[in-house]
Amino acid sequence: MKIIAFNGSPRSGGNTELLLKETIKGIVDTGLSVHTFNLNEMNIRPCQDCGGCNETGKCIVNDDMDQIYEAIRSADRIILASPIFFFSISAQSKIMIDRCQSFWCEKYLLKEPIKAGIYGRKGLLLLVGGMKKEIGIQCAETCAQAFFRTISVAEHEKLFFLGIDAKGEILHHPTALKDAYEAGRKLVELKVK
Ligand SMILES: Cc1cc2nc3c(=O)[nH]c(=O)nc-3n(C[C@H](O)[C@H](O)[C@H](O)COP(=O)(O)O)c2cc1C
Repeated sequence: MKIIAFNGSPRSGGNTELLLKETIKGIVDTGLSVHTFNLNEMNIRPCQDCGGCNETGKCIVNDDMDQIYEAIRSADRIILASPIFFFSISAQSKIMIDRCQSFWCEKYLLKEPIKAGIYGRKGLLLLVGGMKKEIGIQCAETCAQAFFRTISVAEHEKLFFLGIDAKGEILHHPTALKDAYEAGRKLVELKVK
């Protein structure tokens, strides 16, 4: 099973990274491995809306997205982890998602959605925000849903933590790390029919 994760936080040792690491631990403990893309460290140009992918479903900009396109195409499980910035996902996450417009063209214009492998395609959305109100997370969730739909991830689980602001504050949450660990395990669980 191929599993990839996107860390959309720029804060090293921050809440998103801590949560994601725990999710990955839950997966690794089942004997599987995860390839993590630390988006803040990657060279990814924002989508230029050049139309270069309209007829082919392939982006004509060559940068670090090349490795992400390949990884998304062949992944069975995809994790998106992001802090909430200004009521949405981080810019690092959004830039990567916008560049998935080529998958949108492939799916909706060329009618060639990414095919699932034998394990199906499932996702997990991890969001952390400093505000306590639910409204702070809605926009980010909608954006992530559009991302998953575009890359043909038919179902995804979600784990949101509100009111977590200071670096490392998530460590003091009563259940967060355990929840993240369990979410990882569950993501790779194969249900016997
Ligand atoms: C630029 C910026 C914008 C933010 N905007 C919001 C926001 O709109 N809503 C919210 O709940 N938290 C907001 N926050 C707080 C972060 O979501 C919070 O500190 C989170 O724990 C950061 O996660 P990290 O440690 O993984 O970076 C913002 C933080 C920054 C730096």
